[in-house]
Amino acid sequence: MVDIRRMRMSDLKAVIEIEETAFPKPWSLNAFISQLANDASICLVAVAKKPERVVGYLVVTQFVGVWHILDLAVHQDFQRHYIATDLLEYFFDLSGREPHRGYCLEVRKSNRGAIKMYESFGFICSGIRKGYYNDNGEDALIMWRDSEDMLA
Ligand SMILES: CC(C)(COP(=O)(O)OP(=O)(O)OC[C@H]1O[C@@H](n2cnc3c(N)ncnc32)[C@H](O)[C@@H]1OP(=O)(O)O)[C@@H](O)C(=O)NCCC(=O)NCCS
Repeated sequence: MVDIRRMRMSDLKAVIEIEETAFPKPWSLNAFISQLANDASICLVAVAKKPERVVGYLVVTQFVGVWHILDLAVHQDFQRHYIATDLLEYFFDLSGREPHRGYCLEVRKSNRGAIKMYESFGFICSGIRKGYYNDNGEDALIMWRDSEDMLA
């Protein structure tokens, strides 16, 4: 249904539009630009065909040997069509080629759909950050997945 490729500067208008409807505290344009300029980051988009348009994206960065999933969203009209799944599978394929310690992310405790999706990829809840989200004081679950090397 979609093609997955690296994010470009020219995708950012569409990315920001999705970001602003997906999150109560959306990332700024500069936040995306910094990730595009960061050699340690992988920024992907999902592109629907006919008409061609960006309908989802994933931003991940590596530090101290761990991949941190920083941002993932799919346009509301395109959700539940496995687009986030496609983005994550593409990313795991890319990141699995080099040694690393694993993957982690934070997710709102109330975001049951996202938590279910991450669990289906082998993430487990490894901790809680109390009051992590400053828009409503909600807790974040810290989710972790071992690298493929450690799973083997
Ligand atoms: C979370 C999000 C990225 C999922 O994108 P998506 O493309 O709709 O997800 P997929 O279609 O790949 O879902 C795969 C599986 O995850 C689970 N899942 C995903 N969204 C779900 C939801 N809203 N409710 C329940 N389960 C859900 C389901 O098990 C689903 O498989 P199924 O449809 O066969 O039941 C999307 O809902 C979104 O952009 N939300 C707003 C931003 C956000 O919360 N990002 C994550 C922050 S950590």
